[in-house]
Amino acid sequence: MKKLSFVPVALLCAFISVNLQAQTVKLTLDLTKPGVNVSPKLYGLMTEEINHSYDGGLYAELIKNRIFKDNPTTPEGWSMIQEGDAKAAIQLIGANPENVPANEQRNAINAALTTCLRLTVENAGTRAGIANEGFYGIPVKPQTTYSASFYMKGTGRPVPPTRPGFTPPAGAPAPLPVIEDNTAGPITVSLESNDGKTVYASGTVNAVKSIFWNKYEVKLTTAADIKPTLDAHFVISTKRVGVYYFNLVSLFPPTYNNRPNGNRTDIMKMMVDMKPSFLRFPGGNFLEGNYLGDAFPWKTTLGPLEDRPGHNGSWGYRASDGLGFLEFLEWCEDVHMQPLLAVYGGYSLRGDHIDAGPLLKPYVDDALNEIEYVTGSVNTYWGAKRAADGHPAPFKLSYVEVGNEDWFDKTGSYDGRFNQFRNAIKKKYPQLQVISTIGDVQYPALKTTLGAKPEVVDEHYYRSPYAMEEDAAHYDKYDRKGPKIFVGEWAAQDGQPTTNLNSALGDAAWMTGMERNSDLVVMSCYAPMFVNVSKATQPRSWQWNWNMIGYNALSSYGSPSYYTQKLFNTYLGNKVVPITGDGIPTQTRKATRRDSTSGNMPKPIPAMFYVATQNTKTGAIYLKVVNTTGTPQPVTLDIKGMVKLAGEGTLVVLKSDKADDTNTIDNPEKVVPVTSKISGISKTFTRTFDPYSVSIVTINMIKAK
Ligand code: AHR
Repeated sequence: MKKLSFVPVALLCAFISVNLQAQTVKLTLDLTKPGVNVSPKLYGLMTEEINHSYDGGLYAELIKNRIFKDNPTTPEGWSMIQEGDAKAAIQLIGANPENVPANEQRNAINAALTTCLRLTVENAGTRAGIANEGFYGIPVKPQTTYSASFYMKGTGRPVPPTRPGFTPPAGAPAPLPVIEDNTAGPITVSLESNDGKTVYASGTVNAVKSIFWNKYEVKLTTAADIKPTLDAHFVISTKRVGVYYFNLVSLFPPTYNNRPNGNRTDIMKMMVDMKPSFLRFPGGNFLEGNYLGDAFPWKTTLGPLEDRPGHNGSWGYRASDGLGFLEFLEWCEDVHMQPLLAVYGGYSLRGDHIDAGPLLKPYVDDALNEIEYVTGSVNTYWGAKRAADGHPAPFKLSYVEVGNEDWFDKTGSYDGRFNQFRNAIKKKYPQLQVISTIGDVQYPALKTTLGAKPEVVDEHYYRSPYAMEEDAAHYDKYDRKGPKIFVGEWAAQDGQPTTNLNSALGDAAWMTGMERNSDLVVMSCYAPMFVNVSKATQPRSWQWNWNMIGYNALSSYGSPSYYTQKLFNTYLGNKVVPITGDGIPTQTRKATRRDSTSGNMPKPIPAMFYVATQNTKTGAIYLKVVNTTGTPQPVTLDIKGMVKLAGEGTLVVLKSDKADDTNTIDNPEKVVPVTSKISGISKTFTRTFDPYSVSIVTINMIKAK
């Protein structure tokens, strides 16, 4: 093929050069050849607690550190309010016994809620109280009703009885001064601006005089004329002296489907729009935890919030587990997707594992119980527990994955562990497909050899957009007799904290390959899905740099990668249409020093990618074309087969002027898909595909009368 030009495109692009071919680009869609079936579960979602995905993300709770366990030495997220000549103090109680006077070490609500916040008010002044900053602000919106609740007990300083023989240890903090107990009466609960000038909403609860914990609830409604803001905080205040203890302080805005303890409506809608077929949860690293005791504790994430102690997450912060195991399942229900359950496989991130055999048995039994909670009838032990938790109907489950990324376990223990789990799961639930986290092709030296080949293996790919494009034909060569493939985590990575258009082009190129091979690639999900973008300085509000959906407390947006995911799944047929491409332009990345040393110079790779599927019921063909170059690409489209095409169709394009253009929280719609009607469709026609674009052409058939 003769080169027309050698154009160094000024994008990314001191590093990549594009070769445009002299001959016209041509794509031939051959409807006379049978295409493979498209997997009905091809596109799904993956989630875990990372980047404040739930606490400070999807989970609608607005109070940070509501049970005061986030930090053992300080009440993170909380501050004291002291106005007029008020004299008050706050102290974390119980998290760290060394800091607590001996006569104060008795304020747990139950075994889950063992830490609380004490407010001592010696002089009430104008008012004294506690304030919560929320997750990077409390979002206040007009005409909105918030549900606030908290546990409180109020007391003066009754001299507590001590056990005979008990002497406070040397150096123990001095007991508090005696404060008159005047706690009974109104307590004000309010949403206020950070500058203290505006009260957006307030209400009162009537505190009873009691040394026992009481739960208080109040609704706070904002006026219609306020401007949405996240420069606000939540306050509980008093005008009377006393000693007040607080725990499980909660504030919920309206939630999706009005579920109590539910999710944010904006982010839920974004997922619903993607029409995903499954949700892989609870991780990711979050499934495993750093140490053996830190794995996702599904049982203690069930039931009333009062019974949930939370646990150590694996991304540097504690998980409240308010979005617990049943909430994951209800999230699936609300988004109309199936759960894809990952069960802890006996290996944790820092490298410890449980040996297969009797030591692993309790973990296998735990996984069987977990599956029973999801799928069992109300006549089973765990099915009855699910019903008691409010969801009698079982959930549909087809896939269970054992562990996460066990290729990190270099001891080779996964073979034995996987088989022990698989045998037990298959014995009790023969209808379930059990996924191995080690792909035969990706890790041939580590693959499962005991027993049968896994039915499905999970492969992960995080790479640069160029590397995704280079490997877009990855699955074309896979052995069809091997296991089915689940691409359980993948992303093209460029642009932080949400990926840019260049990433979306890499994603789309990679997805053309998965879609073309979706007889083999039965499921796929991008990762990570969520990121709280509020704070870019250390400690940042995120831990992973390349993510799909960004938000702060007030609003959310989709990255170009989000729109690519949404478009690929929206325009998807049930059969792949075989395509041949001619004259496809190529691109070549600049050689690195390592290339020169190894003598392996970079080779040209395609710069355009394509796939087509057909809905065999309606006849509609969805042709997806990715143009990664900065040049418009005219393409002749040739449709072979005895079909009558409608002259009009639709075109959806995601594009921008520069490949590194992106969406942000302040400019959320810079790169969004645009839909238009197109005409002139016939068995051979030409369309020009825009620079840096993902395009989907819908070609319709004329319906027989
Ligand atoms: O998606 C982020 C992390 O990447 C996941 O937790 C882990 O499975 C992978 O290494």
